[in-house]
Amino acid sequence: MMFWPQNTTPFLWGVATSSHQVEGGNNNDWTQWENAGKVTEKSGDSSLHYHKYREDLQLFSQIGVNAYRYSLEWSRIEPKPGQFDHKALDHYREMTQDVLRHHMEPLITLHHFTLPPWFAKQGGFFHPEAANLFGRYVQKVVDTLGNLCRFYVTINEPMVYAVMGYGTGQWPPGHKSLKELWQIGPRLLACHQEAYHRVKSQRPDAMVGLSHHLLAFSPYDTYSRLDRINARIMHYLFNERFIQWTRSTADFIGVNYYSQQYASHRQFLVPILHKPGATPLTDMEWEIHPERLEELLVALKSFDKPLIITENGIATSDDALRQQFILDHLTAISHAQNRGAIVRGYFYWSALDNFEWAEGYRPRFGLIEVDYTTQNRTLRDSAYLYRRIIDANQGHWPINIPPKPEQPVSVL
Ligand code: FCB
Repeated sequence: MMFWPQNTTPFLWGVATSSHQVEGGNNNDWTQWENAGKVTEKSGDSSLHYHKYREDLQLFSQIGVNAYRYSLEWSRIEPKPGQFDHKALDHYREMTQDVLRHHMEPLITLHHFTLPPWFAKQGGFFHPEAANLFGRYVQKVVDTLGNLCRFYVTINEPMVYAVMGYGTGQWPPGHKSLKELWQIGPRLLACHQEAYHRVKSQRPDAMVGLSHHLLAFSPYDTYSRLDRINARIMHYLFNERFIQWTRSTADFIGVNYYSQQYASHRQFLVPILHKPGATPLTDMEWEIHPERLEELLVALKSFDKPLIITENGIATSDDALRQQFILDHLTAISHAQNRGAIVRGYFYWSALDNFEWAEGYRPRFGLIEVDYTTQNRTLRDSAYLYRRIIDANQGHWPINIPPKPEQPVSVL
């Protein structure tokens, strides 16, 4: 049964970040990974959002958003097993109060890729007590913030976490093991379920779900039957399986959508990022395919759950391309709504330029530009465009896309 607190919650127009990518000064398994030289750049101070969140929230409200998705850093909240840091909890409570003061709905992510070192050292989500330990942390969070926050993502992108940490080994813990890749899914599922029940028993009206990275897989050669089969299998394993597993423990489906990738029988289950000569590419070398988002959203109708786009965005140094990206993806969402997809929110990734994991600081995803030397913030033209779209959509349903400005928009 589809449920949405409709009378009290308008369409969520938001921006998103995650703790390790913007806070600065973290001490988690990613920090250790960076210190061990596994990636070229360290997160370091990042965008100093931990200290500058007040200023940042002001900027977000200039963009006109009514929602903010951010993650809590478990390693700050529980730096040692069972010992909670009240300063960190107070920090997140004050920050959430500030989010509310700016008339934004908080959407809190409980796990966005990083772990406290003690938990990582004991095997992370392979710890035999992982679900209880994760549940204990989540309990502390809802005891502290539950009365302030109604929307929760338990785990961000379980499949990306699984593939990068246990398949390709590019992220911590850096394992390349088919066996672990296969086994980590059910572990993450158990943690999600535990978190879901903890939040719901504290706050039955909470909306709890996961954010799934959905990749639109295409056969590399559309005439190859094997490529088509490979694309179908990848779609099932990467996009669909976890959503099916959480049919009874998710109040909404969080969709993170960025791109299309290719399936070829020449490399079974390993996608090809883009076709040679594909253009334009983002600075992550991802192709741009808004029409595939429409298709994915329409396909999700069969789950009969509200959909929230918890991430969508582009890394580019060309802000005109970012503006086009936003317009095209929102148009795709509006088409999906016209075809019956119940989309209840859109969060642009990212509010601020930030630390893009193994890619470091080069990719610029922000609506707000960060100068990492001075920590000065500047709203990009795309932020003003986003504001215009939000203004044009107070109460509109489905999303109404205002005509594309002839010149880049630069005035509020
Ligand atoms: C998503 C992640 C997010 C960010 C974007 C670009 O997969 O959830 O942290 O890195 O990609």
